[in-house]
Amino acid sequence: MAIHSQWCQSLVEIFGEPPITYMNTQILIDTTSKLVADDKGLLAMDESNPTCDKRFAKLNIPQTVESRRAYRELIVTAPGLGESISGAILYDETIRQNMKDGTPFLKVLTDAGIIPGIKVDTGAKDLAAHPGEKITEGLDGLRERLQEYFQMGARFAKWRAVIAIGDEIPSRSCLEANAHALARYAALCQEAGLVPIVEPEVLMDGAHALEQCRRVTEETLRNVFIQLNCQRVLLEGMILKPNMVLPGLACPTQESVDKVANITVKSLWRTVPAAVPGIAFLSGGQSAELASARLNTMNLRFKSRLPWALAFSYARAIQQPALEIWQGKETNVKAAQQALLHRAKCNRAARRGEYTAAMEKI
Ligand code: 13P
Repeated sequence: MAIHSQWCQSLVEIFGEPPITYMNTQILIDTTSKLVADDKGLLAMDESNPTCDKRFAKLNIPQTVESRRAYRELIVTAPGLGESISGAILYDETIRQNMKDGTPFLKVLTDAGIIPGIKVDTGAKDLAAHPGEKITEGLDGLRERLQEYFQMGARFAKWRAVIAIGDEIPSRSCLEANAHALARYAALCQEAGLVPIVEPEVLMDGAHALEQCRRVTEETLRNVFIQLNCQRVLLEGMILKPNMVLPGLACPTQESVDKVANITVKSLWRTVPAAVPGIAFLSGGQSAELASARLNTMNLRFKSRLPWALAFSYARAIQQPALEIWQGKETNVKAAQQALLHRAKCNRAARRGEYTAAMEKI
């Protein structure tokens, strides 16, 4: 953590101050450093109520405020979670919730050494005149919401843009509109002292080949960094949350772990400035094991040669096995927590390049 902070400081000595000196520059750099420190990563537990309910419905778990609260209590109280997780992304409902005994989740997390973060977009909506494409909304009133979340104790935020691959899509206008919104969000976060997690997700849905995902991912990231620079976002005080470069789920050719790792790192190398301290992947519908294996191979092969840390910010690839064990039953809480901790530890090992398939047999 301190190393990154010192490193940024020495760059300031060489290059001078960044274009805008936020009052918060040091806070932003320090928080970013903590989030990507050591071999930890982020846990995304920020499913909106409709998304959370959809996942509950599949397992016949009641879709109520109390079920969602109980499930999030299971997660935040998993013993030793802070050994692998540096930050947890919450949803507006969750950040205001408490344990059954009345202790706020925010306190449980901070006591465990986990930095609380908050999802602040209000969802991806249809982009007018662009069938099949989405634009993420949530900029109206964002400055005030960010101030409130900061006062509550959040120190970072997340905004997700979704980019679909299909016939003639993504369009240039969709890439530009989403990149612009991400950059406006990121600048507002930094003004409020919150580290922005910038998440442009190229979806896995479809039958497209790896090469098409590579092209779209690179084009997406180029647009994102043009807009981030345009909006004067401090690159040293943000984290990029991209997809891995993958063939579509329905593509007949599914590629090896090595190939995915190579092409993903190559695409990031071409598009992500060295000033960005960390890249924390989303899992996007990959199996939990593949999400660990692919991250592991990237770190094993390239870690010492990359300017940014390669970390994780998974939701499904950490939570799904635990959710399936829990099934909404108090008696399953301990076993579900074990499954959650196991995935967190596998991904921690993947950051070091020390994850092996044998870890799954324990
Ligand atoms: P997944 O890891 O399930 O893709 O979720 C990450 C996330 O935060 C989506 O916004």
